[in-house]
Amino acid sequence: MLQIKNLHAGYEELEVLKGVSLEVNSGEIIALIGPNGAGKSTIIKSIFNIANVTAGKISFKEKDITHLKTHELVELGISYASQGKINFTNLTVEENLTLGAELIQEKDLVRKNLESIYHKFPILRERKNQLAFGLSGGQQQLLAISRSLMQNPVFLLLDEPSLGLSPKAQTEIFAIIKKLREEGIAILMVEQNAKKAIELADRTYLLEEGKVVLEGNKNIVKHKKIKSVYLGGA
Ligand SMILES: Nc1ncnc2c1ncn2[C@@H]1O[C@H](COP(=O)(O)OP(=O)(O)O)[C@@H](O)[C@H]1O
Ligand SMILES: [Mg+2]
Repeated sequence: MLQIKNLHAGYEELEVLKGVSLEVNSGEIIALIGPNGAGKSTIIKSIFNIANVTAGKISFKEKDITHLKTHELVELGISYASQGKINFTNLTVEENLTLGAELIQEKDLVRKNLESIYHKFPILRERKNQLAFGLSGGQQQLLAISRSLMQNPVFLLLDEPSLGLSPKAQTEIFAIIKKLREEGIAILMVEQNAKKAIELADRTYLLEEGKVVLEGNKNIVKHKKIKSVYLGGA
């Protein structure tokens, strides 16, 4: 579905990614793990054309998407939930969701997507008239993901969905991500929680200093490097 070949990318004169190749097949959850500053977010930003791609190729369903504009990516079915709190905290839950669909012209489709999200996540319906500000951390993350879902993606980019959440809320968010995969959405997810990411993902890539240094399925958890560095020797 998504294929990245020999990607070099960064910001102005700073080259962050130094030849990254990876792929995501339809229906897969792929995790990107690695230390802070390794370039994980930059991979996602390159796909979404926010980082500066200097070489290499990104294709989606065999089509070169390397320098497409946001609305073109969204039309192809690619959505992005960025790292950190991206909700408008002084708007209501429903206003946030509606904003997620601002690229969709047909009002009926926006209604339909909203209804489908409320059906899937009843807590958002219950809270629809409350300010996003008042939601718990886990609910805010759910809202951020749901805003991307308003665009009907077939491929979802998630940057650190569990960041700052309590262990319980993390478990809930991971269950939601699994549910999205069951609905046929492919997911590329950056995660700082290596153990949970590996458990959830079909395949995991370990990134260090702008390069993929290890790739594998759930068995990657047994790898010496992962054990010693990322799982604290556990
Ligand atoms: N907008 C930006 N402008 C300049 N440098 C950036 C920007 N965003 C990230 N960087 C730098 O790029 C490197 C990789 O960052 P990032 O991809 O966010 O790492 P990760 O997500 O793996 O923690 C870091 O050195 C970071 O400081
Ligand atoms: Mg990051």
